[in-house]
Amino acid sequence: MPALFGSDWLADAPYEDRELGVLKAGKESEVHLLARVGPTRTCLIAEKRFTPRLQRAFRNDYLYAGIWGGGGRRESRAIRKRTRFGQEALESRWVAHEWGTLVRLHASGVTVPPPVEQIDHGYRMAFIGDGQQAAPRLSEVHLDLSTARQVWRDVQIEIRTMLDADLVHGDLSAYNILWWRGRAVLIDFSQSVDVVTHPASRELLYRDVERTAGYFRRMGVTIDTAAALALVGDSPSRFARQVLSS
Ligand SMILES: Nc1ncnc2c1ncn2[C@@H]1O[C@H](COP(=O)(O)OP(=O)(O)OP(=O)(O)O)[C@@H](O)[C@H]1O
Ligand SMILES: [Mg+2]
Repeated sequence: MPALFGSDWLADAPYEDRELGVLKAGKESEVHLLARVGPTRTCLIAEKRFTPRLQRAFRNDYLYAGIWGGGGRRESRAIRKRTRFGQEALESRWVAHEWGTLVRLHASGVTVPPPVEQIDHGYRMAFIGDGQQAAPRLSEVHLDLSTARQVWRDVQIEIRTMLDADLVHGDLSAYNILWWRGRAVLIDFSQSVDVVTHPASRELLYRDVERTAGYFRRMGVTIDTAAALALVGDSPSRFARQVLSS
């Protein structure tokens, strides 16, 4: 897929960041709009900040526990005991995980907002929108049948490109895809998992494909799940269990 932004989209130093408002405020995160004013140009940045509570990380222990790794024994023990230090350690792993995934996907050519930088409790990326108006989520948009067919093909290629980078999104649906200038832009990588090491990666891939297909079926596209899985590159040899047992 062609890049969404030119390589010079980001304003250079010395710059000043100005807060323009909140794009979306939820229980677990807020997304703010910033203008970065540099010497030759201004660009718009979306800043995702995680609220310091950690319900997300505890929401689904089976699927997501242990995906972050890193840290020492003291940290791991504190996380297990859910002390304040442990909570902070877990939060910073969570943010680093989402940021790291965005960077990896962007470098692999997946259509995502270009990453800018990590900050305390969050990260910054390119704002996807026109003027100060954020792009809608695909779930809010009605596509005509021929556009829907084309975009479904595009999304399957995105999933395939992710898989080739050994990643499964883990929370893919029309809610985590932005619709911008005829392109599907993937966001929200908090639940992404590594294809090779995560024991449920294949199930998560199936769920991503099914949920996303659900939207396109509502737009009238006929979708055969087996064909879609073949197209995204599903194959037993990619996944953890088979790797371990071979
Ligand atoms: N780069 C971006 N450009 C424009 N809007 C964005 C960007 N990133 C996120 N948003 C907006 O913020 C919303 C929430 O972002 P995201 O899905 O990453 O967070 P979340 O914590 O999962 O929130 P939610 O539970 O609402 O999905 C998105 O649905 C989108 O409307
Ligand atoms: Mg989301």
